[in-house]
Amino acid sequence: MLVLGLETSCDETGVALFDTERGLIGQALHSQVDLHAVYGGVVPEIASRDHIRALLPLIQGVLDEAGIERPDAIAYTAGPGLVGALMVGGGLACGLGLAWNRPVIPIHHMEGHLLAPMLEDDAPAFPFLALLVSGGHTLLVWVQELGDYRVLGSTLDDAVGEAFDKTAKLLGLPYPGGPALAALATQGNDEACKLPRPMLHRDGFDFSFSGLKTAVMLQVREAEAQRNLDAVRADIAASFQRAAVDTLVGRTLKAAKYERAERIVVAGGVGANTLLREELAAQFEGRVFYPRLEYCTDNGAMIAVAGALRLADARKPATIQAMARWSLDSLTPPQSE
Ligand code: KG4
Ligand code: ZN
Repeated sequence: MLVLGLETSCDETGVALFDTERGLIGQALHSQVDLHAVYGGVVPEIASRDHIRALLPLIQGVLDEAGIERPDAIAYTAGPGLVGALMVGGGLACGLGLAWNRPVIPIHHMEGHLLAPMLEDDAPAFPFLALLVSGGHTLLVWVQELGDYRVLGSTLDDAVGEAFDKTAKLLGLPYPGGPALAALATQGNDEACKLPRPMLHRDGFDFSFSGLKTAVMLQVREAEAQRNLDAVRADIAASFQRAAVDTLVGRTLKAAKYERAERIVVAGGVGANTLLREELAAQFEGRVFYPRLEYCTDNGAMIAVAGALRLADARKPATIQAMARWSLDSLTPPQSE
């Protein structure tokens, strides 16, 4: 079976073709980063318009390159995300479904992220603990099996990717800030600034990053007042990254112990962070699985593979699903309607 996957929940237009026999056979990604960079963050209306421009030519290109006329099913991100952007992907998926007489499969964006390691030869077996860290989410999820998810903890305020982006902005780095901040951090001393490790000693598995963000802001203001921000920018970046990673690793190891996890999956954009990868691998006794870097950030391949695993959910393209908010807990294993 051939599944076309469409991702349009935020600022990347992703398209991929997954063959249940052969694996991933084609993909294309169009990033909107340049369009939003001038505004310092994603502008929803601009995102929707650009998805409209990019999506159809990307689909045509992927199908042509693979020599495929029409896939057997179309999976699309149905949420959570920017509703206008989601409507573009959902609308086109349903339109093509009607034209081609093919079913559609609505996919939860975060389920796409947590299934991204399934694209690798060395895929994790269920059950596993998933740390999902992106620009909009920070979640610790117990994954019993496909579609059986228990959210153990989430952020009480900012997502960790958002904290990276906002800190990067304070330091005068370009959007999106996460990769730029991580690069600057390699030149700094991560013990130079005293920053809090929020929630590390609290009960439960929730996260909070707004206190860390405020602490960084105070350091930046102080450096600005003393006119030496340039001299300490790398130190602040390194200290922030260390505090954020310590917090993520601490909470994740605690949850892993509580659930007696043998495997941890780290996914989502912040999963591309090298320090996070190194620290978790060094401190966890079991195995840590990561998708390759290009599948950490938003992409069509993770939606196509999720669709292939959820073929039983395929339905007539009668209604477009687009949900700005959608809890991962509410998902169920694949089932025919
Ligand atoms: O999963 P993703 O591509 O989009 C969302 O669904 O949000 O994640 C994007 C987030 C951004 O906040 C970006 O700054 C962050 O992932 N990010 C990183 C790194 N690469 C991307 N954060 C820290 N270190 C990185 N290397
Ligand atoms: Zn994402």
